[in-house]
Amino acid sequence: MSADPHSMNPVRPTPRRLDDVPGWFWPVDQLLFTRILDGQTDAGTTGDLLELGTYLGRSAILIGRHRQAGESFTICDLFDSDAPDAANADEMSMSYRKTLTRQAFEANYLAFHEELPTVVQAPTSVLQDGRITAESCRFVHIDASHLYEHVAGDVQVARAALGKNGVVVFDDYRSAHTPGTAAAVWEAVFSHGLRPVCLSPEKFYGTWGDPLVVQEMLLRHDWTGEGWDLCRDTLAGVEVLRLSGNGINPSDPEAEAEAARPAPVRAVPRGPVPRPRSVGRRLALDLLPPVATRAVRRRLQAARDRRTD
Ligand SMILES: C[S@@+](CC[C@H](N)C(=O)[O-])C[C@H]1O[C@@H](n2cnc3c(N)ncnc32)[C@H](O)[C@@H]1O
Repeated sequence: MSADPHSMNPVRPTPRRLDDVPGWFWPVDQLLFTRILDGQTDAGTTGDLLELGTYLGRSAILIGRHRQAGESFTICDLFDSDAPDAANADEMSMSYRKTLTRQAFEANYLAFHEELPTVVQAPTSVLQDGRITAESCRFVHIDASHLYEHVAGDVQVARAALGKNGVVVFDDYRSAHTPGTAAAVWEAVFSHGLRPVCLSPEKFYGTWGDPLVVQEMLLRHDWTGEGWDLCRDTLAGVEVLRLSGNGINPSDPEAEAEAARPAPVRAVPRGPVPRPRSVGRRLALDLLPPVATRAVRRRLQAARDRRTD
């Protein structure tokens, strides 16, 4: 995260694709979030979703796409409220104040989803009051203040919130301008039992459960075959995956073209629609707004029907 990349253009049209939403959530992390959240659902793991630091919704929109029936999604952000201390206020005015309003976040989110998540407009420290049920979450994304004192508090929120083998993700764990996040994350590893699972250039993925469960989920995919760089490192005796590079682009032009075409006239058969198989299509379905997603699903189903006619 650096200075707001969109501050010169505060009036924006309704986003159609995730990449139209300003933010700092890059393809490798979009894919890692998708694979972890899908992997949990495929394994029958249920739990709530939580994001600390949402900005205009780029990461929240993708996370919200994975919420299953019976699960909640809560986001916490200051938006246009006052920061709780001077250092946090400086951070806000340097990076977010020019464009960030709760209204702008909500408009972006509703371009992709029919309903908003539970919104807590407050400093993330309020979540230490127990309003997030202990061990209720399967996925927590921490991307709010990058100051040590705040991130150290967010670590404890995530630790209390996560259930068995739940995954926490920290943004900016190694950027030159965010030493506070680095300090809090590695303190969590060496003093508070957090176990690294995977590292991307921007984000640290960890768990207080068994890292192998999450790593096995990730290693089911052919990352190198899809063009990503996958390495294994050993940190203090623990094996950690490291992913980077420019693999398959989640913005799939084929799916976009499909979405733009009118839906077929024939009736869509009742019953569950099988999950799309290709990585590009699956990601595109995650990233497109609901109307476009429905159109893609209709086209995929129609193509399958034609094949079985
Ligand atoms: C880097 S941005 C989040 C980016 C977003 N996750 C994305 O991928 O686009 C950080 C966000 O944290 C919020 N924030 C900063 N300090 C905070 C605090 N103490 N409590 C809650 N939110 C805070 C800011 O308002 C900003 O929206």
